[in-house]
Amino acid sequence: MTDTRQVIAYCPGSFDPITHGHLDIIERAAKMFTGVIIAVAADAQKDHLFSLDERVQMCREVCAHLPNVSVEAFSGLLVEAAHQAGASVIVKGLRQSFDLSHEGPMTYMNRSLRPEIETIFLLANPAVTYVSSSLIKWVCGMGGDISPHVPPLVARKLRERLGRAD
Ligand code: PNS
Repeated sequence: MTDTRQVIAYCPGSFDPITHGHLDIIERAAKMFTGVIIAVAADAQKDHLFSLDERVQMCREVCAHLPNVSVEAFSGLLVEAAHQAGASVIVKGLRQSFDLSHEGPMTYMNRSLRPEIETIFLLANPAVTYVSSSLIKWVCGMGGDISPHVPPLVARKLRERLGRAD
């Protein structure tokens, strides 16, 4: 059996921006594994509100209290980036059943590419099952209060970027 205390976990996503939903998963993974690498996807095909550097920086700042968590950017195949980083587990969060239908095919594909890298899913804390970066950006852009769902630093940056700063 794998000793999970000696395993580095790779936690990938767009993090555009990081939310309390992401933090829930990252903080729990940090308790389970030797180290957790937050892997911020460059993914040039997607339109991001924040640049890659901004997304990485926000992740660094809001995870500064977690000593075994680091942040890096990645591009290309997720399993290759995880392998390069020395991670043997990919950790993702599941909020609702539709997350599983989206994640399932990618998980099987990733396993076929690199069978030695296991993907595990943590069920989201019930309080954050409806929180997503997309909804947060939408609501903030229309002047809604997103402060319960993101760290204060992220709320401030979102309001500035979306022209909703006081
Ligand atoms: O936060 P997101 O946007 O849901 O994250 C998606 C992400 C970055 C995990 C996904 O797009 C991904 O794995 N990208 C890396 C490219 C890759 O490996 N594609 C093949 C997956 S089978």
